[in-house]
Parts: sequence; C-alpha cells; structure tokens
Amino acid sequence: MHLHHAGRTLIAAAALALLSSPALADGDPARGRTLAYACMGCHGIENYKNAYPKYSVPKLGGQSAAYVAAALANYQAGARWHPTMTGLASSLSAQDRADLGAYFAGMAAVQPAAQPAGTAPAAAAACAACHGADGVGTLPENPTLAGQHADYLVQALNDYRTGKRNNAIMSGFASQLTPADIRAIAAYYARQPGLVTPRLR
Ligand code: HEC
Ligand code: HEC
Repeated sequence: MHLHHAGRTLIAAAALALLSSPALADGDPARGRTLAYACMGCHGIENYKNAYPKYSVPKLGGQSAAYVAAALANYQAGARWHPTMTGLASSLSAQDRADLGAYFAGMAAVQPAAQPAGTAPAAAAACAACHGADGVGTLPENPTLAGQHADYLVQALNDYRTGKRNNAIMSGFASQLTPADIRAIAAYYARQPGLVTPRLR
C-alpha cells in the first residue's frame, strides 16, 4: 500500500518534471522553416561530408523534435563540440531550438517497423530499450538512429568513447563496444527505413 502510494507520487513528480522541461516547449514549424535556411547548406545536401575528420553530416528529417532541441542546447552548453555547430547554436534561443525541432521532426513520419531489415547484431540488444529494435527512438529524448548515415553513427559512438561528446548514459554504453561492434551496429541502424535528408519546401 505504502509502496503503491510512493510509486504514484514518483510518477506524478516525473510527469511534472516533463511538463516543465524546456525541451518540450511547443515548437512552431513554420518559424523553424525560416530559421532552417541557415542549416541547409550542409544538412540539406544529400551525403554532404564534414571535413577533418571526414564523416557524413547527420540527417535531421524525421528526427525527434525534443532531441534536435536538446542537441542544439548541448552544443551551446559545450557538452558537444563542433566548430560550426557550436557557433550557430550559440545564438539560438530556447524557442528557436523548439521551432527548428518541430520543423525537422515534421519532415518525415518515422514509425517503428513491424519487421526490422536484416538481423540485429548481438551488441545492439543493449540499445533497443531506448533506441528501439529498429533504431526508432522509444521516447522523445532518445534520438532515432534508423536511416542515419553509418559513418556518422560510428563517429558519434567514438566521440562518446573518447569523451569528446559528453553524455553519462551513452558514454557508459559506448565504452562497452568494440570497434567491430560499432561498425556492425552502425551498418544495421543505417539500413533501416527512417531519417531523411531535409529539403526546404
Ligand atoms: C557547415 C555545415 C553545417 C551547418 C551550416 C549546420 N550544421 Fe548542423 N551539423 C553539422 C555537422 C558536421 C554535424 C555533426 C557534428 C558532430 O559530430 O557533433 C551537425 C550536427 C547537428 C545536429 C545534431 C544531430 C544529431 O543527430 O545529433 C543538429 C541538431 C544540427 N546539426 C542542427 C543544425 C541546425 C539547426 C543548423 C542551422 C541553424 C545547422 N545544424 C547548421 C554541420 C552543419
Ligand atoms: C537508457 C537509454 C539508452 C540506451 C540503452 C542507449 N542509448 Fe544511445 N542515446 C540515448 C540518449 C538519451 C542519447 C542522446 C545523448 C546525447 O544528447 O548526446 C543517445 C544517443 C545515441 C547516439 C547519437 C545519436 C546522434 O544522432 O548523434 C548513438 C549513435 C547511440 N545513442 C547509440 C546507442 C547504442 C549503439 C546503444 C547500445 C549499445 C545505445 N545507444 C544505448 C539513450 C540510450
């Protein structure tokens, strides 16, 4: 009885925390579209590459709005670092981040697949609770990996391992993966239907 009550109180507290989270501010996709002009020179070009090190610029079309907003906040806060992204994110307000998230998220309907393509590598079993068996994030804060560029996923996992990218959960998971696991996991998620390269329309 007592436990039951405590559980309910916890759930209520968690719900309140979610409601007051800035990442869940309502985004205006039309305003996001205007802001996104500044992004398309890289994100809007199919297979565009970052230089030194060379890897694909991540796909944003269909990505979770809350995750896009959080990623931009992380560049601003220094939990992630990339010369261009950190510079661009530094001038964005919370409303800008929410609007950009709403715009990119609305670009493709990404749904969990009834049947993932191919067989998941054994090491991906540890990822499914948050990223889905087929790479479609199970909660708004968990990024969708389905359809993302494989070389970007490899880069991200290595950045968590080396600490260039700072996230307590993901640093723990990434540090348990071998380079072969990382390649297999990245190839598996990349081949699932999901994220798309955004196009202004
Ligand atoms: C000069 C090229 C360039 C421009 C312009 C650019 N980006 Fe990026 N963006 C990148 C690269 C490269 C990365 C991956 C960086 C990394 O490894 O952290 C990235 C990463 C991101 C991510 C993280 C994606 C993920 O899956 O974690 C978001 C969100 C993002 N950009 C949004 C934007 C927005 C919004 C704009 C416009 C305001 C923008 N970008 C403009 C190159 C660019
Ligand atoms: C408990 C939930 C959870 C589990 C389990 C988990 N992740 Fe994540 N993952 C997250 C969250 C939250 C983020 C966003 C972290 C950030 O902001 O950097 C993330 C980010 C990532 C990213 C970066 C995505 C991008 O667009 O930049 C990759 C790649 C990734 N996870 C792969 C994995 C793999 C592979 C596993 C299993 C070995 C795994 N994750 C297990 C929650 C999880």
